[in-house]
Amino acid sequence: MAQTIAYTEQQFIDEVRKAFSSSEDARMQAQVIADHLREMFKTGWPANSEKFGAEPGTYLVHSDPDLGHPHGGFQILTYRRAPLGSESPPQPHDHGPCFVVYGVASGSNLQTRYAWKYSDDSTVAPTLEATQMVRQTPGDAAFFLPGEIHSTQGSVDEETIYVRITSEDLEQVWRHRYNLAASTSRAFISGQTWIKS
Ligand SMILES: [Fe+2]
Repeated sequence: MAQTIAYTEQQFIDEVRKAFSSSEDARMQAQVIADHLREMFKTGWPANSEKFGAEPGTYLVHSDPDLGHPHGGFQILTYRRAPLGSESPPQPHDHGPCFVVYGVASGSNLQTRYAWKYSDDSTVAPTLEATQMVRQTPGDAAFFLPGEIHSTQGSVDEETIYVRITSEDLEQVWRHRYNLAASTSRAFISGQTWIKS
């Protein structure tokens, strides 16, 4: 557990910066950041942040030019999302060389992890399989390390306020989206259109 409880948004930013400056290990960094995020949720953040908005959307709290994993550029992003209204299919993806910490302040997000399942027969193509499903509820924080594949599905009937802390600016890195039915993938950079595989 993190030893210092963050009480203000600036203290939280400082603690996240310290997580990156005090360890080179992604798991350690992500664990410490998730621990601090859980403490921050107890203060009513991010709904009480001056940087957060009343309309559905993405609100940037902090973009760091100096620190991240392994290079500068971590971001603290907050989201207000309207109820989706209907179930959305999972969209598995990874985060390239980055890790991401996801936390829910209100509402819920369904997080699913995936892994390649290989046959003992190496001539058989591997398939992408779900390995864990967790519904994040208020106060929860989880992380997905470099190389992990996951999907996030928002609540159908609740507004959800959630936080995403990326260890680099994901607009700058190549990563992959996966077609679950076909067990195929395509490389992309955020903002580009996915050509369906
Ligand atoms: Fe993600």
